Amino acid sequence: MSDGLEDVVAAHTVLSEVDGAAGRLVMRGHSLDALAGHTSFEEMAALMLDGFVPNLPRQKQLQVALGEARKELFETIVSDAVPAALSPVEMVRAMTALIPDGEGAGVVLKLLAAPAVFTPAALRLRRGLAPVAPDPSLSQAADTLRMLTGAAPTPQQAAALDTYLVTVADHGLNASTFAARVVASTRAGLVSAVLAGISALKGPLHGGAPGPVIEMLDAIGAPADARAWLEAALDRGDRLMGFGHRIYRVRDPRADALKGAIRRLGADAGRLALAEAVEQAALAILRERKPNRTLETNVEFYTALLLEALGFTPDSFTCVFALGRTTGWLAHAHEQIAGGKLIRPQSVYVGPQPRQAA
Ligand code: ACO
Repeated sequence: MSDGLEDVVAAHTVLSEVDGAAGRLVMRGHSLDALAGHTSFEEMAALMLDGFVPNLPRQKQLQVALGEARKELFETIVSDAVPAALSPVEMVRAMTALIPDGEGAGVVLKLLAAPAVFTPAALRLRRGLAPVAPDPSLSQAADTLRMLTGAAPTPQQAAALDTYLVTVADHGLNASTFAARVVASTRAGLVSAVLAGISALKGPLHGGAPGPVIEMLDAIGAPADARAWLEAALDRGDRLMGFGHRIYRVRDPRADALKGAIRRLGADAGRLALAEAVEQAALAILRERKPNRTLETNVEFYTALLLEALGFTPDSFTCVFALGRTTGWLAHAHEQIAGGKLIRPQSVYVGPQPRQAA
C-alpha cells in the first residue's frame, strides 16, 4: 500500500517525463528549455496530440480551427445565465459541462478552445461587464488576453502567455491528469475526462496554489517583513504555497522558465524583487524547519507573478492553468483509451467484520 499512490507507476506514457532528482522535464522528446519561449499554444497542442487524434488540423490550420471553435463556443454557450456567484474556475467548469460529450477532432478542438473563451467571459460576467467575442484570426494566447481586457495585447504579452501555456502543458501523472485518465478509462468521453481534470486541478495542493501565493505576497508587503510572516505561517501549521513537490527534490525547472518570461515581459520590478526576497526567506526557513525533506520552489510561485502581470485576477489563475493543461489531459485521455484497460485499483478493508451468529 502506498499513501497518496506515492512512487506507484500507473501508466507508460510517451507524453512527458518528470525527472525529480535532476529537475528536468521532457515533453514528447523535447526539453522544457527547447519548448518554453519558442513554441506557441497551437504548436504545443499539435505536438502533444500528434498521432492520437485522427483528422486534427495541423500547423496554421489548427490555429484557424481553434479560432472557429472559440467563436462557436462563445455563440452557443457563453451566457449570463451561468451564476456569477460561482468562482471563476467553477464557472469555467459549468460552461465546459455544456459541451456535448464524445470523442474525435471536433470535441478536441472545442475542449482546447473552451478555457480560452470561458475564462475571460467568466471574469467579465463576475464584474458585470459584457463578454468580448473572440477574434478567430488571432492566436489562442493573443485572443484570450484580448477577450479579457477588450484591447489587443502587445506581442510580448501574447508571447508570455504562450510561454506559460507551453510550460504547464503536461507533467507526468499529476493529480488532475490521473483523474482525467481514470475517467477516460471508463470511456465516459473526453468532456467528462477534462471536467475531472478541472475538478482535481482546482484544489490548493495542486493547481489552486498560485492564488494564495499572491495573498501571501500582499500580506507580507515588504521584503524586510518576509521572514517574520513566513515563520508565523509555519507556526500556525500552514503550508507555504508555491513550495514543495511530490516528485521534484530540486528546484522545479518550470519556475525558472516562468521567471524568464516575467523578465522578458518587463513586469513590475518591485513586485519581482518582493517575490525573490520572499522566495529566498521561505527556502531558508523550510531548510531549517524540515531538514529531512527537500522543499524547493515549484511552478506555482512564479505562475502567480506572471499571470498577475498579464492582468488575470488571482481567483482565475487555475482557469489559465487549465487552458495550458487541457492539452496534456486530452493527450493522456487518448493514450489511456488506446491502451484499453479500465483503471481500477484495489483497497484493503480495515473495518470490522460482521459478528458471527452465536
Ligand atoms: N510548506 C511547508 N511544509 C511543507 C510544504 C510547504 N509548502 N510542502 C510539504 N511540506 C512538509 C509537510 O508538512 C510534511 O512535513 P512532515 O513530514 O513534518 O509532516 C513534509 O513536508 C512532506 O509533505 P507531504 O505532504 O507528505 O508531501 P507531498 O509530496 O504529499 O506534497 C505538495 C506535495 C502537496 C505539493 C506539498 O509540497 C504542498 O502542499 N505544497 C504547497 C502547495 C503547492 O504549492 N502546491 C502546488 C504543487 S505544484 C502543482 O501541483 C502544479
